[in-house]
Amino acid sequence: MRKIIIAIDGYASTGKSSLAKLLSSHLNYTYINSGSMYRAITYYAIRNKLIPLTKKNINSLIGLLSKIQLDYKINKSTGFSDIYLNGSNLESEIKSLEVSNYVSSVAEIPKIRKHVVEIQKSFQHKGGLVMDGRDIGSVVFPNADLKLFLTASDHIRAKRRFDELINEGYEINYDDIFNNIISRDKKDTERKDSPLIIPKDAVVIDNSKMSIIDQLNFIIKLIKSRFNF
Ligand code: CDP
Repeated sequence: MRKIIIAIDGYASTGKSSLAKLLSSHLNYTYINSGSMYRAITYYAIRNKLIPLTKKNINSLIGLLSKIQLDYKINKSTGFSDIYLNGSNLESEIKSLEVSNYVSSVAEIPKIRKHVVEIQKSFQHKGGLVMDGRDIGSVVFPNADLKLFLTASDHIRAKRRFDELINEGYEINYDDIFNNIISRDKKDTERKDSPLIIPKDAVVIDNSKMSIIDQLNFIIKLIKSRFNF
């Protein structure tokens, strides 16, 4: 059976990674969360006191890219890849609101995008790939076999992210999460380099009222009808 590339893009907290994980397990494909690379670089910038992103700090961060080693390794207990920065597992740290508050400013820097997109493209040879993010169907894999674009109402997205972070033990308040989601969407859709767009050949899924299983069933049906699986 031919292995395909599935690109999932969409607004913040639309459940892209939960869906991508479920779909990749179902198909026995590799899953890569492209946002984790921008988040890891943002974490590095925070730790190295390169925030606020003044011109000088941006230049320093760009100069340090060659020293930032990003890797994915399978986490045996979850079965999914965790992101490593210079050998340290950052899967939990990158979810913090502090990282979320700066990540879209880091992700709009063209030289950082170019560096990250090159790494992302290198996953293509693996075949059988699900990757989620903002520019996967438009820039990273414009020839992806299947492009999905997820959307959901603002409050539903904020509530989902709030519940997820509370479950993981973060002390956060709902309004901060809501504001972060709205401001990231604005930055991500308005930036000059690879803005978040709906690729013209993408299937748009508004999952406000869909469970994750509803979404999986819908996509599996779509794959079966399109690719003769
Ligand atoms: O999980 P969530 O949708 O909240 O975000 P994420 O996928 O972890 O991405 C965090 C941020 O990284 C986004 O808000 C974008 O600013 C940036 N990003 C990007 O520019 N391009 C991508 N392919 C993935 C993420």
